[in-house]
Amino acid sequence: MNRFNRRDFLKSGAALAASSASVVTASLAQAQQAKIRVGLMLPYTGTYAQLGVAIENGFRLALSERGGKFAGREIEFFKVDDESEPSKAPENANRLILRDKVDVLVGTVHSGVQMGILKVVRETGTLHIIPNAGADDATGALCAPNIFRTSFTNWQPSYPLGKILMERGLKSAVFVTWKYGAGEEALRGFKEGYSKAGGKMVKEIFLPFPNVEFQAQLTEIASLKPDAVVCFFAGGGAAKFIRDYAAAGLKGKIPLFGAGFLTDGVLDATGDAAEGLETTLHYGDGIDTKRNNAFRLAYAKTFKLQPDVYAVQGYDAALLLAAGLDAVKGNIADKPGMIKAMEAAKIDSPRGAWTMSKAHNPIQDIYLRKVVGKENKVTGIAQKALADPARGCKML
Ligand code: PHB
Repeated sequence: MNRFNRRDFLKSGAALAASSASVVTASLAQAQQAKIRVGLMLPYTGTYAQLGVAIENGFRLALSERGGKFAGREIEFFKVDDESEPSKAPENANRLILRDKVDVLVGTVHSGVQMGILKVVRETGTLHIIPNAGADDATGALCAPNIFRTSFTNWQPSYPLGKILMERGLKSAVFVTWKYGAGEEALRGFKEGYSKAGGKMVKEIFLPFPNVEFQAQLTEIASLKPDAVVCFFAGGGAAKFIRDYAAAGLKGKIPLFGAGFLTDGVLDATGDAAEGLETTLHYGDGIDTKRNNAFRLAYAKTFKLQPDVYAVQGYDAALLLAAGLDAVKGNIADKPGMIKAMEAAKIDSPRGAWTMSKAHNPIQDIYLRKVVGKENKVTGIAQKALADPARGCKML
């Protein structure tokens, strides 16, 4: 020990520093070569199953268009079927984050499940991209630097609908929806725009999610005789509601409107019952741009399916992640760098280019659409460059 003098000590210290520096360099290089771990927490069963599949397809299409890599790094997927079941959400999110150690969590569709994910990603600081769920709070009162959304808030597509009804002289409306976050927030958004324009709500009718026995609600609507019916339904339940509305003899008597989820991805299942329905949404099949046409063609070729709004949102989630990774040269551990680039990203989306609001939600055009055959044709713009008010978000 005594023979280990000061000079030796300094020498060994320098050697140690040099070797640990090379360890650091090596592990950084290794980290930049390792696959990026992407968690997909989506519904693959139940009424929203098709929505989950479309989101994953969209994401994978964007990835394959970039040769299967973002910023030179391959992607490894870890998937969980969240079943649109809010009570299982924290456990499912934790499984991806703690067990699978994902670098980024992409999910989900259902606003109730989303609230559970938010709790976990706010605690862990995990980078998070929401490819559908509209829960207003995600980019409102619960907004956070690590939470981004490539879809919409529940308020966003419903708010401009009120003004459109009033332009048609439809002065009284009934709103019908499932009783959970998305339905309630869509109703609130519609009501805000409708009452501002002078419309009168006659009644708010709810049924539990994901019930599809609509007889009692349709009977009540027939007896209330409002000028219009507005609704929030999506997926399998939306297709059933459209069919039942027509079968009850209400189609052609009381016009039916809704946020465009009503008619997106369901037109194969509705037949003629959907013909002529008008809705508002941030996407339309008939957006006739080079960008959208190329996307639709590539999607149809790859998956033998027509794309819908969910596919676009999944596609854009991948574009957003790619924008972040390009900026940090694939080093996803550089979270501040990722966040800065994702905040500044201009997403060249099939829906039209969009940017992030300060609360991390798209600022986007809301289209007016009409069902013609198997297509949601765009007939106008209900509201240009609409930003969610992001009530309660402290990042504003
Ligand atoms: C939601 O729960 O936020 C939700 C689900 C399906 C949609 C839209 C919103 O199509």
